[in-house]
Amino acid sequence: MRRHRRFPLLSLLVVLAVGAGIGYMTFLDVDVPAQAWNQVRASLGGLAESLQLISRSLADVTFEDVAPAQDPTPLLVNEDNPLPEDYVPQDLVLMREYCDEDVVYIKGSEIEGNREAVDKLMEMLRAAIADGLGDWQISAGYRSVAYQQQLWDNRVYEYRQQGLSASEAQSATARYVAVPGSSEHHTGLAFDVTVPGESFPLTEQSKWLAEHCWDYGFIIRYTEEKEDITGISAEPWHVRYVGQPHARIMRDENWCLEEYIASLTTP
Ligand code: DAL
Ligand code: ZN
Repeated sequence: MRRHRRFPLLSLLVVLAVGAGIGYMTFLDVDVPAQAWNQVRASLGGLAESLQLISRSLADVTFEDVAPAQDPTPLLVNEDNPLPEDYVPQDLVLMREYCDEDVVYIKGSEIEGNREAVDKLMEMLRAAIADGLGDWQISAGYRSVAYQQQLWDNRVYEYRQQGLSASEAQSATARYVAVPGSSEHHTGLAFDVTVPGESFPLTEQSKWLAEHCWDYGFIIRYTEEKEDITGISAEPWHVRYVGQPHARIMRDENWCLEEYIASLTTP
């Protein structure tokens, strides 16, 4: 929290006013009484003291005083809110090298993720292991727009092969693959959490994740209940790091990210 201090601004103003008055009298060649000079001298002493107080106050203000008490508002990324073209994901780490392989298997050697989000992911999976649930795998993390485009094109092609028109194929694809430029995976803050060789929605790990991810700053981004709002079919494996207090508020209010962001901007 920012600490507010009452700087002795008033004394500064008084000194300036008296000084200006005497300066004006001198300019007009008016005889300035000795008492007035004494007052100015005393005031200057006060001013020096005030300046000292100000500098001490500023030196006292620590980073904690001015840092936000909570994580910044989460970035909303969806078809209506694509990332800017010059968006650069921050602080990516190569997960195969960074993560403890006793905790999680990173499926692709090139999978990357934002450092803070990966740290929290590891903390979360360690807690799951302490609860007796292991066998975690990460199937996806950061994706470039070019890679998302490949995923998009492949899925559209599959639908076209099944006989859908071009526009039908695109609409069907958009329910499962975000439009390139609009995927949370571009941020490095989203991960696909899976269990090797199993259908994730049917696993105990899926239940654990849905119950506990919020406490580690993650949300289950696409649920069946909110499909009409997100436009994306349920993905119990896709977690998005938003930090606190956001994740817990979304859990407590049963809000998806679109609803949460609307709650922040609607009076
Ligand atoms: N599967 C999710 C929606 C994505 O492509 O980002
Ligand atoms: Zn995903």
